[in-house]
Amino acid sequence: MRDLHAAPLDGKVVLVRADLNVPTAEDGSILDETRLRAVAPTLEFLKGRAEAVVVYSHFKRPSGHPDPKMSLRPLAEPLAAACGCRVEFAADCIGPELGAAIARNRPGGLVLAENVRFHPGETANDPEFGRALAAPGDLFVNDAFGASHRAHASVVGIAQHLPAYPGFLVQSEVAALSGALQAPRRPLVAVIGGAKISTKLGVLENLLDRVDSLLIGGAMAGNFLAARGLGVGRSLLERQMLEQTAAIAAAAEAKGVEILVTEDAVIAPDPGDARAASTIDAGAIPEEQMMLDIGPRTIARFGERISGAGSVIWNGPMGMSEVPAFAGGTNAVARAIAGSDAYSIVGGGDSVAPVMAMGLAD
Ligand code: 3PG
Repeated sequence: MRDLHAAPLDGKVVLVRADLNVPTAEDGSILDETRLRAVAPTLEFLKGRAEAVVVYSHFKRPSGHPDPKMSLRPLAEPLAAACGCRVEFAADCIGPELGAAIARNRPGGLVLAENVRFHPGETANDPEFGRALAAPGDLFVNDAFGASHRAHASVVGIAQHLPAYPGFLVQSEVAALSGALQAPRRPLVAVIGGAKISTKLGVLENLLDRVDSLLIGGAMAGNFLAARGLGVGRSLLERQMLEQTAAIAAAAEAKGVEILVTEDAVIAPDPGDARAASTIDAGAIPEEQMMLDIGPRTIARFGERISGAGSVIWNGPMGMSEVPAFAGGTNAVARAIAGSDAYSIVGGGDSVAPVMAMGLAD
């Protein structure tokens, strides 16, 4: 990777892809600002040296057209606070609106552009859209570690048109993960949960050659239980991925990697119906109920593996942790990791948020 310190910045407009996809509460308020603080060093560095800095990001998953609930506008102020500088918001990420905002902010200003996913060309990695994103800039910096697995226009398309550099966050994340994956203290335990099942199955496949144990909770567990032929009621399931899930389980066995999947679960008919919650064996989930957290037996088993680990990588909550009644498993995993002597890496907004909220980051 190129070194951003060596980039020629003087007089240049620098386009930065950040991941400002912060977790939010129902009312839209920000639950955790870690991602804003994490990109701040790169922005501060560039702002002091470049002619102007433009920040591109996605926010949630709009379907290719503007949706006021997913605007980045409310993030301009918190981003400004994180960077300790003024941030002007531009109501589009391409075209004259952005051009005018950049012109107003020369020299030395910072512009936050509206959600790149308000254009269908972003997720389609449309070459024309990539060209339009690149148009106002001289240099591209990717500091969106959390979005770098997406072959989207603002991540990869744009980099085809401009000299491209990794930001400091990407550099430090790659350094931390490379160390943990290439020469880990063993046993290396990966704890994987969350709801982005299809995205993460590829990650699991990749981890099989590196980890000693995989602990699977959250919505992800539904696919593993279903792949074993168990009923999971109304739990989140990606049926089209069942074959791949079964193949991963088989490959793990062949490679001698232990996979522990949710063995008991907190269930309810609906996430909004916490009063009807109960705990049940994961093999006995009734048709009309859904898994919303891991149960106490699973917490204990996962805790044992975590406390005996040399290294732990955690991504994805163990249940619907934004609802307090279903946050017990996620919080217990966070406490177990913080209490272990393992070298630990926690990634993903919904896993980082409880760690920060519980004051366990140190
Ligand atoms: C994330 O929060 O995982 C990243 O911002 C990527 O978001 P995405 O899964 O919507 O691409």
